[in-house]
Amino acid sequence: MPPTIVKHRIKTVSPSGTWLVSGRGQVGYPGAGALGSRGRLRLAWRRLSGVATFLAHAVASRGVRGGRLSPTRNQTGGSMDLDGSEQDPVCVGREDDIKKSERMTAVVHDREVVIFYHKGEYHAMDIRCYHSGGPLHLGDIEDFDGRPCIVCPWHKFKITLATGEGLYQSINPKDPSAKPKWCSKGVKQRIHTVTVDNGNIYVTLSNEPFKCDSDFYATGDFKVIKSPS
Ligand code: FES
Repeated sequence: MPPTIVKHRIKTVSPSGTWLVSGRGQVGYPGAGALGSRGRLRLAWRRLSGVATFLAHAVASRGVRGGRLSPTRNQTGGSMDLDGSEQDPVCVGREDDIKKSERMTAVVHDREVVIFYHKGEYHAMDIRCYHSGGPLHLGDIEDFDGRPCIVCPWHKFKITLATGEGLYQSINPKDPSAKPKWCSKGVKQRIHTVTVDNGNIYVTLSNEPFKCDSDFYATGDFKVIKSPS
């Protein structure tokens, strides 16, 4: 008897625990009805092993803290979940220096950030672009719709310095003669707080409990600069 082909949902999991591929495929397992009792046992064992492997993967990628699963910052669905000490401001340099260079990079509590000095104001954000991890510290600053934005050097996404919003242009397809309008995708890049005290620049990490796309690239394998061990 030819093997029965059953439809099966295929999912692939990345090391960080994020679903990368989810689609329909055909797998050549015979249907359970076509198996004898030993075959059914083998199939059940295979499925059980798959579940155990998935759970082990999920625990490894999320980390266990105090015996409880706790979200890590490289998951797009999680919040920042900072410890109290990670909310302390960190001195990243001197005001005189950033005024000359107009940008600097720093590691703040193990998170890479870029600090811009633009038109008399300081802005700090995650260094890796929310789109695909591009190095924002190498981008140009330009105004769009009157809002200063960092333009990612990789695919030219525009991110507002003040709020971390992703901007895009749209036109009304029903009215092609209309001028394209700038629109916001919402906050995509996590913005941190910059303070100046006695000529020193301090960065305090954002602890806003919302899902921010740039969190995915802010830790783990995607780091630009490895912190000193
Ligand atoms: S990585 Fe920044 S625009 Fe694609």
